[in-house]
Amino acid sequence: MSRPSLPTLHGRVHEQEVLDRLLADVRCGHSRTLLLRGESGVGKTALLAYLVGRLEEGRIVGAVGVESESEIAYLALQQICTPLLDYLGQLPAVQRAALATALGIGAGESPGQLPTGLAVLGLLAEAAVEEPLICVVDDVQWIDRQSAAILTFVARRLGAESVALVFAVSDPASELVPAEAGLLSGLPELRVKGLGADDARALLDEVLAGAIPPRVRDRIVAEARGNPLALLELARGENTVP
Ligand SMILES: Nc1ncnc2c1ncn2[C@@H]1O[C@H](COP(=O)(O)OP(=O)(O)O)[C@@H](O)[C@H]1O
Ligand SMILES: [Mg+2]
Repeated sequence: MSRPSLPTLHGRVHEQEVLDRLLADVRCGHSRTLLLRGESGVGKTALLAYLVGRLEEGRIVGAVGVESESEIAYLALQQICTPLLDYLGQLPAVQRAALATALGIGAGESPGQLPTGLAVLGLLAEAAVEEPLICVVDDVQWIDRQSAAILTFVARRLGAESVALVFAVSDPASELVPAEAGLLSGLPELRVKGLGADDARALLDEVLAGAIPPRVRDRIVAEARGNPLALLELARGENTVP
């Protein structure tokens, strides 16, 4: 995954501190899991980009759920593990075979969940021996169910490998099928909420280069309810000559 330049985020001091602490922990040899949860447009992907941009040394792997591809078994796992296949040879044979089957590069029929889960855990741990490994999975609500099961299995078993698993999932959780909601339950969570009015106004001022009447600005802030995507879209509409 490429490292974008650091985005300027309004009103995310606490969230950025949490992410900075996570990186510091991983640098010190701990492993961490974090689930960013919040409504669509609230800024989860922007926070993941912040995290990726803050990594000074280490490796990033990741996957992004895509609604139209959510039925493709093991797709997210394939995105995460393919860059790490150099380490496959260091896994026990049973795990190696299971993971290879899951990723579509092995001969087996259906990979067992336990050996596949242990294989992914082992692969991430091996990859993190030399430098920290950050695994970022965005739009978890759309990743395939098989990968979700394996990744949460791994998340619950990380210990001292210098691995971070950071997920972002869109609310409302009711949109998740019960099995997926269950998989994610109990993971350490950071709820991403809408921006406060001052931060929302600051974001608007930044994107609306010209002054807008305070009345219009207040209306946009009220309508967007702190959702940055809504703020940006409403500001764009305000800027468009009808
Ligand atoms: N704190 C913030 N300050 C400024 N812009 C933001 C902030 N959070 C998100 N944005 C912008 O708002 C839009 C939606 O954010 P995004 O991270 O894609 O939301 P989500 O992933 O939760 O759906 C993006 O254009 C993003 O750059
Ligand atoms: Mg997003």
